[in-house]
Amino acid sequence: MKPIHCIAASTFLALSSLALSSPVAAQDAAAPAAAPAAAPAAPSGKALFASKTCVACHGVNGAKPRLVYPVLAGQDAKYLLEQMNAIADGSRVSGLDERGYPRTEGMKDVMHLASAEERAAMADFLSGVPAPKPVALDPPMDEARQAAGKEAYLKGGCVTCHGVEGRKPLSAYPLLAGQKRDYLKLQMTEIRDGVRKGAKLAAMMPFARKLDEAKISLIADYLSQIERLPK
Ligand code: HEC
Ligand code: HEC
Repeated sequence: MKPIHCIAASTFLALSSLALSSPVAAQDAAAPAAAPAAAPAAPSGKALFASKTCVACHGVNGAKPRLVYPVLAGQDAKYLLEQMNAIADGSRVSGLDERGYPRTEGMKDVMHLASAEERAAMADFLSGVPAPKPVALDPPMDEARQAAGKEAYLKGGCVTCHGVEGRKPLSAYPLLAGQKRDYLKLQMTEIRDGVRKGAKLAAMMPFARKLDEAKISLIADYLSQIERLPK
């Protein structure tokens, strides 16, 4: 397509409001093969995730190694969508980051750039991305600590909702396997202390209240080292 023709055609269209009724005909005259009449396809979840600034904090595939940011890759799609909506409408809040702002605040600001359909497309995209390998602990966890973590998870009753090894949660509940340790610790602490709120969290509260610092640390170490199941 020669640019000069496009400019001429669009100038013509802009100047003559009557011509708006037949823009396809005008384009066809300039470039018969290059202008199909079909509406542009809706952007993919991947493209939306890249263009709505999410990648700045979450990385291209939702798995940036910043330890307090959650792994989104491979997470349950319904859960992801619910959380986007909850962060956008302010019903999910968090504690403060190192600069003194709530960690959810940056996201709350950008979430309004995405419509309901766009949020759903991003949730589907993220849920289908293969989860990254767990971020190795330094120092690595020994077998005794791993066994203690597993026991705390089982005895804590977590398995009922989050599944064996945090890998098979109830539908629309979060996967915990392979989540980042520091993020897990923060969430357990803030759920327990009532900082993070949510309608569905009421069910978890009796279990969360029994978590002390030692158990939170054990369970976070344990879950962070479990690989998510392939989809
Ligand atoms: C300024 C940084 C920032 C940006 C930009 C950002 N996020 Fe987040 N996001 C976070 C942080 C931090 C959290 C965890 C909040 C917490 O600790 O409670 C989070 C949490 C989430 C969660 C919840 C995950 C879970 O396991 O509960 C989802 C889903 C999410 N982000 C999706 C997105 C999408 C989609 C976009 C783009 C529209 C986006 N985020 C943009 C920083 C960001
Ligand atoms: C009765 C069901 C239930 C039980 C039992 C339960 N949880 Fe949860 N948990 C939830 C729900 C629902 C959410 C998501 C809350 C929301 O929608 O905001 C959640 C969220 C979480 C999160 C945050 C995940 C994320 O990606 O942000 C962590 C961490 C967690 N639970 C750990 C645990 C641990 C550890 C136990 C055991 C001590 C436990 N849960 C027991 C229902 C449960």
